[in-house]
Amino acid sequence: MMEKILLKNTEVPEQYQLETYMKSGGYQAIHKAFKMSPLELVEEVKKSGLRGRGGAGFPTGLKWSFLPKDTKSPIYLVCNADEGEPGTFKDRYLMEKDPHLFIEGIIISSFAIKAKQAFIYIRGEFVLSTTRLEKAIEEAIKAGYLGKNILGSGYDLEITVHRGAGAYVCGEETSLLESLEGKRGYPRLKPPFPALVGAFQSPTIINNVETISAVPWIVLNGGEAYAKIGTEKSKGTKLFSISGKVNRPGVYEVDLGFPLEKFIDEYAGGIKEGRKLKAVIPGGSSTPVLKASDIEGLNLDYEAVAKAGSMLGSGAIIVFDETDCMVKSISVLADFYAHESCGQCSPCREGTAWMARIIHRILDGKGKKSDVDMLLDICDNIMGKTVCPLGDAAAMPVESFVKRFRNEFEYHIREKRCNLS
Ligand SMILES: Cc1cc2nc3c(=O)[nH]c(=O)nc-3n(C[C@H](O)[C@H](O)[C@H](O)COP(=O)(O)O)c2cc1C
Ligand code: SF4
Repeated sequence: MMEKILLKNTEVPEQYQLETYMKSGGYQAIHKAFKMSPLELVEEVKKSGLRGRGGAGFPTGLKWSFLPKDTKSPIYLVCNADEGEPGTFKDRYLMEKDPHLFIEGIIISSFAIKAKQAFIYIRGEFVLSTTRLEKAIEEAIKAGYLGKNILGSGYDLEITVHRGAGAYVCGEETSLLESLEGKRGYPRLKPPFPALVGAFQSPTIINNVETISAVPWIVLNGGEAYAKIGTEKSKGTKLFSISGKVNRPGVYEVDLGFPLEKFIDEYAGGIKEGRKLKAVIPGGSSTPVLKASDIEGLNLDYEAVAKAGSMLGSGAIIVFDETDCMVKSISVLADFYAHESCGQCSPCREGTAWMARIIHRILDGKGKKSDVDMLLDICDNIMGKTVCPLGDAAAMPVESFVKRFRNEFEYHIREKRCNLS
């Protein structure tokens, strides 16, 4: 039986209130954390093998240990709650249902990295999440879990909720920092990395909501216990938001390494109207699409999904069935990326717009024979050549749709119509 770490209490009525959270053992982990040193906490998180759940899967404890050891600057924790990746809706669910779990994670993580100020950069459209978080912060301050001299430990922490304005690029960590500082959300060139020069020129750790929310369990149960869950390199549980042509779209928590087909059947209730599975985007709209044949026997962990030719990303599974036109489907994503490119660098600004234009030309029955290879050429001219990974995020899905469903693109160009209509 798999143990739930993040969604254990999300269905408890009014779990978002402090009183209910306390009844389910809430705020016990900070008592234990304050008996440990910051260094011991970082080591415990390292031992757990927890990897960032925002998309890149970078080891969390290792990231924390990149902070300068004896800095005179303040250190900041910035929690990335922007969640703009199409298909991803796990962080919103967690924040709406169990905001205190996230806040307890922020308190422990801030203590571990010696930050006295934490920020939650939250997507502006997440009104309910914001309201619940602000209320939960108020409750935590009143209960003495936040503010000055928390639980008599001598440790002070303030959490500020900062609402974004709905730009996808502001989920990228350096763009987020610019936005947090009140500037236009242009990504920064790296290095320097935020652990050395982050928010307001100070050392900063940026972590995803789900990453931070796993920390209380790790502290209570130990890093080793967490590391026993999952696979050799993909430890712990993971939230997956599944959408598209399934009977029960939603957010589910499974151990990393769980079989994808079983996940679609048992958790998401199988494909709608008993149709045939055609394709799956496994990790959010930025990750390459896989054909039904690619996912046979595929497990949901970072290594297995990479070996199959895609990425686990943010764990947003988008399911296509046999009635879905892949040219039409990628046109939606191409429009999204063309709209969201910040325009700072030419390959992404021009390339995303051209990709969208060519795909629409093909859809409208005006495609040229050379368009398919032209799309691949544009992808090649974007990938690895931009300031931030949004360029790659835009090119990877287009490249994979064209390569894995080339016949559909060629049919549209040849017959000037869709093969499914
Ligand atoms: C275009 C773009 C959008 C991103 N959006 C998000 C987001 O909404 N939430 C998030 O946690 N990470 C997002 N990321 C990843 C962040 O840059 C960063 O890697 C992450 O917040 C680090 O946290 P983690 O180590 O806990 O995963 C995005 C990256 C890119 C390139
Ligand atoms: S890759 Fe795109 S989003 Fe990123 S900095 Fe360049 S233009 Fe902006």
